[in-house]
Amino acid sequence: MTKNFWKELAARGPIVALAPMDGYCDSAYRQVCKTIAPNVIPFSEFYSADGLVHSKDLAKRVLPHADIEKPLIIQIFGKDPEKFRQAAIIIESYGVSGIDINMGCPAKKVVKSGHGSSLMINRDTAFRIVEEMAKAVKIPISVKTRLGWDNHDLLVDFCKGLENAGADLISVHGRTYKQAFTGKADFTGIYDLRQHLGIPVVANGDIMGYADGTRKILHPANRDTLVFPGEESVLGTGGGWKNLDGFMIGRASFGNPWCFLPDGHRPTLGEILEIMELHARLLIETKWPKGALEIRKHLVQYLHGFPGVKEYRTRLVHTESIDDVYGVTADIRREHADLLGMPLEPAQEAAFAQAWDQCNG
Ligand SMILES: Cc1cc2nc3c(=O)[nH]c(=O)nc-3n(C[C@H](O)[C@H](O)[C@H](O)COP(=O)(O)O)c2cc1C
Repeated sequence: MTKNFWKELAARGPIVALAPMDGYCDSAYRQVCKTIAPNVIPFSEFYSADGLVHSKDLAKRVLPHADIEKPLIIQIFGKDPEKFRQAAIIIESYGVSGIDINMGCPAKKVVKSGHGSSLMINRDTAFRIVEEMAKAVKIPISVKTRLGWDNHDLLVDFCKGLENAGADLISVHGRTYKQAFTGKADFTGIYDLRQHLGIPVVANGDIMGYADGTRKILHPANRDTLVFPGEESVLGTGGGWKNLDGFMIGRASFGNPWCFLPDGHRPTLGEILEIMELHARLLIETKWPKGALEIRKHLVQYLHGFPGVKEYRTRLVHTESIDDVYGVTADIRREHADLLGMPLEPAQEAAFAQAWDQCNG
């Protein structure tokens, strides 16, 4: 992958990415998302730059990936530019397509160590990290950050510094460090940032799916003059302002990898069960034995919102093997055969709920 990767991608349409999420975006999750939505660019959960340099074991455990995950972006965190440089070389040797630097994690432990969000206020270190990595590898370097520490006054300056240091893409979660996950994501500062940078800018925070993302990346001044995706490029500048280049979805993808699809596809119960089985198989294969326990939190999300599934949920949070998972999905198929082909259109959810309730007596 060349340094132009992000620019070329942005020129073809909105960048649609799976947001990096610790404890979620492992190889199995990324494969599931790519199986459903080949258009998505998967970001990994974050890994320690120091850990990758000092432990061969960590690199061997987290960097190998399946072809379907490509183009895969690996995210790392840390604070030492030299460790980032060495980690970048290791990551590149695994055939990864890009490296993302975490400059937005607000977790106390992370910030106290000088990692994540604290790089927004240790700017010289942040710029040196990007510079060292950009010089060391041929693959693109991106940064994921937040609006700022407690407001977005310094966002443009900070990101210009990152661009000058060699960053090829910036993604911004529309909350400050102080907000952590509270309040609503605000993209105002991100639209402004886009006017000042030559590299693509991706927005993140509270995006529910493809349609929501493509609407939110339009600069508000362009919204009246631009038509929507499929009719004309969303990268147009109808109102004279640059639009954002794409969006990242995190939490809305839990149990719903279909959220990345442009056509608003709503899965049937049958499709959902198949993907639950695929997810379980992949996670248990790639992360045995831990994966057999980790899969529980994913499986319950797939059935989120289906009324009358309490019983199955209880069983799903106690699975210990792939056979346990197959046992639950087989029972759902048998007991609700008439519902398997029912697409979950939003307008039909009430009907679906009713049908499900009836089935459950
Ligand atoms: C469980 C969880 C783990 C996360 N781990 C990371 C991480 O490893 N790296 C990172 O940059 N952001 C991480 N985030 C933040 C997300 O990437 C994203 O910025 C945030 O969830 C807002 O997007 P959303 O509203 O689409 O979920 C995490 C978020 C969640 C919920």
